[in-house]
Amino acid sequence: MSDEFEPRIIAFCCQYCSYSAADMAGSMRLQYPTNVEIVLIPCTGRFDVILALKAFESGADGVYVAGCLEGNCHFVDGNIRAKKRVAYLANELKKIGIEPERIAMYNLSASMGPRFAEIVTEFTDNIKALGPSPVKKKLAA
Ligand code: FES
Repeated sequence: MSDEFEPRIIAFCCQYCSYSAADMAGSMRLQYPTNVEIVLIPCTGRFDVILALKAFESGADGVYVAGCLEGNCHFVDGNIRAKKRVAYLANELKKIGIEPERIAMYNLSASMGPRFAEIVTEFTDNIKALGPSPVKKKLAA
């Protein structure tokens, strides 16, 4: 068994493009880290800061939101609103001493299975480099 830090990552994926991309990555049998737990949401416009804070509180080391490509949201501008919320939260995390890189936003089309796998790998590597979430450490103390 390895002692390497294995982060817990929560990904809020919209049911249209990004979840379909995740499905495609699975169908293509692409290899990617198993650290990500996907939470299916109808649209990233449904994502709000409270959901991310709850994820951190429940032990996530990193959180990302994955929606449709800009201009392709099935609810017009849900992904644009999510992008603003993610940017807002990154800034707020920074103010309280939590690395803003622990939250991110990605955009995918349904056919981007390989990109989905890349994102999981890239984000997992980024969070591994940061180490465990300070929130988790504080709650354990
Ligand atoms: Fe995918 Fe809105 S439906 S981001």
